[in-house]
Amino acid sequence: MITKCLFPAAGYGTRFLPATKAQPKEMLPILNKPLIQYGVEEAMEAGMFNIACVTGRGKRAIEDHFDITFELESKISGTSKEEQLRCIRELIDNCTFSYTRQTHMRGLGDAILTGETLIGNQPFGVVLADDLCVGESDGVLKQMVRVYEKYQCSVVAVQEVPMDEVDKYGIVSGVRLDDEHMRVDRMVEKPSSADAPSNLAVIGRYILTPDIFDILRNTPAGKHGEVQLTDALQAQAANGKVIAYRFKGQRFDCGSIEGFVEATNFFFARYKK
Ligand code: G1P
Repeated sequence: MITKCLFPAAGYGTRFLPATKAQPKEMLPILNKPLIQYGVEEAMEAGMFNIACVTGRGKRAIEDHFDITFELESKISGTSKEEQLRCIRELIDNCTFSYTRQTHMRGLGDAILTGETLIGNQPFGVVLADDLCVGESDGVLKQMVRVYEKYQCSVVAVQEVPMDEVDKYGIVSGVRLDDEHMRVDRMVEKPSSADAPSNLAVIGRYILTPDIFDILRNTPAGKHGEVQLTDALQAQAANGKVIAYRFKGQRFDCGSIEGFVEATNFFFARYKK
C-alpha cells in the first residue's frame, strides 16, 4: 500500500512573477481552488492520505490552507457559503499534513531527498503541483499505483511532446512492453533535440521506491548545477527498475502562462455545465 505522497513546493515560481513575489506559486488558483489542492485531491483519490510537503521560506500559506480557519468557519457556519469550504474540509478531515523545509534551492532531487525524513523507508508518490492532471476516469496517480502494484518498481508518467520542447523535460527511452508501458533504460534531463533519445517526456507524477534516497545522496549536481531526480532515476533504470507509463488523461503545464490559461478555460467549461 502506498500511503504517502510528497509535494516538493519550495521553488520560487519565477515564471509567475510578480504574482509569486509574496505568495507561493502552489497557491495560485485555477478558478477558486489553489493548484496544490488539485494535487492533494488526486493523491487522496489514489489512497495516499499522508501528505508530505517540502516547503521553504515564504510558503506558510500552504500550511494555513490545509488547516482549519476557526474564525472564518464559525462565521459562515450555517450560511450558504459553508458549502464552498466543503471540499477543503474533506481533505483536512481525511489526510495528515506534514512539512519540512528545504533551506537551499539545489534542485528537484535535493527537494526529494529533503523529504526523506517525512517518507521513511516505503514507496511513495510525488506530485509536482505545477502539472495539473485530469485523469480520464481514474486520476493519474491512481492509475500509476496500479502500475506500481504490477511491476513493483519506480513509475514515471510520460507523454509525447513536440521535439522542440524536449529541452523542458526529463526524456526517457527504453523497451516498449505494450501500448502504455515501457521499461526505461535511459533518462536524460532536459536534452537538446539533437541529444534527446525520444520525445517521451516525464511529467510531474512519480511513484518512487525508497532506495532513491541513497541514490540521491550520491548523485552529483547535474543540469543547471542542480541535483536532478532524473539522474537518480537513471541509476534505477540501468537496473530495469523504472517503468514509464503513458497515462490516460490530460496534463496542463500550469508553470507556464499558456498552460495556466488552458487549465482555467478547461475547468471553467466544466463549471458552466
Ligand atoms: C521537472 C523535472 C523534469 C520533468 C518536469 C515535469 O522539471 O526535472 O524531469 O520532466 O519537472 O514537469 P521542472 O519543470 O521543475 O524544471
